[in-house]
Amino acid sequence: MSVKLEGNILVTGANRGIGLELVKQLAEKTAGEAHIYACCREPEGTSAETQSLIRGSRTSQELEKKKSTLNKVNIQDKGKIFNGQDVADEDSVSAAVQAVSKKIAAGGLNLLINNAAVNKPASPAPLSATSKKDMMEVYETNVAGPFVLAKMLLPLLQRAAERDSPAKDNGNKMSCRRSAIINVSTMFSSIEKCPENFPIAQMYPYRTSKAALNMLTRCQAEDFKIHNILVAGIHPGWVRTEMGGADAPLPSQDSALSVLSVISSLSNKDSGRLLDWGGNMIPW
Ligand SMILES: NC(=O)c1ccc[n+]([C@@H]2O[C@H](COP(=O)([O-])OP(=O)(O)OC[C@H]3O[C@@H](n4cnc5c(N)ncnc54)[C@H](OP(=O)(O)O)[C@@H]3O)[C@@H](O)[C@H]2O)c1
Repeated sequence: MSVKLEGNILVTGANRGIGLELVKQLAEKTAGEAHIYACCREPEGTSAETQSLIRGSRTSQELEKKKSTLNKVNIQDKGKIFNGQDVADEDSVSAAVQAVSKKIAAGGLNLLINNAAVNKPASPAPLSATSKKDMMEVYETNVAGPFVLAKMLLPLLQRAAERDSPAKDNGNKMSCRRSAIINVSTMFSSIEKCPENFPIAQMYPYRTSKAALNMLTRCQAEDFKIHNILVAGIHPGWVRTEMGGADAPLPSQDSALSVLSVISSLSNKDSGRLLDWGGNMIPW
């Protein structure tokens, strides 16, 4: 599977699970020059694995070889952004975006992967175990988070879209090499598929938040097409992570590599779509 991505790439929720694997695979497999911004809620409290990816270690030597940089930026700190201290929250996000802007300079942001998310209460999350607080917390993280990030990073995405010529992608105006937002969604977001999978896990907050994320994806695709920014949703499969659980069939490495391979091949026609890790379209 090939990963044909390059430029400035920002991934949220990069300290563990699929996000960590996305960053690792990007660091190892991108062919051209890539600068990867691995965003964590608590950069100082990240796992030993993430820390070693960032400082020293074989992987970072490989990064250097490729003239890539891996930066950690506290860009989506739930504690700061969504705790009701609005002014402080906005300041925190915009300070992080400014820090990224400074590093990126004139290059613009080529790819934003909105991966960070929560699922509360834990699966199967029947109605009786679910509170209004769960609904609001999950919505804030899974919908408002990607919304705010994309809004604040839009000028950088526009800059990347304006900078690169479509010739780079065989005349395709839109691609993840040029300028794109990938919102990590789930099969459980599909309204059409709900009758098939509802008995396995009810998960009202998670399902409804990801369905809203799909609509955000669709709206952004309409809104940003004038700028040639591609926007798509992706379901990474049922993956063995803290969220996916121990019974999930797919290791995070396989999921991340498949996701990166699928998004490498997206073009104009895919903007506004929801795809799975095999590249198949999922019905809304
Ligand atoms: N695993 C699956 O089977 C599966 C299936 C379909 C879709 N997905 C989607 O794939 C993505 C990654 O899932 P995963 O399985 O890797 O989940 P995970 O192992 O639970 O990791 C979630 C990541 O999101 C971060 N995060 C949560 N809330 C955040 C916030 N408010 N601000 C910043 N970061 C936050 C976490 O950081 P902390 O360590 O700080 O909490 C962590 O890095 C999610 O969008 C999920 O919905 C997963």
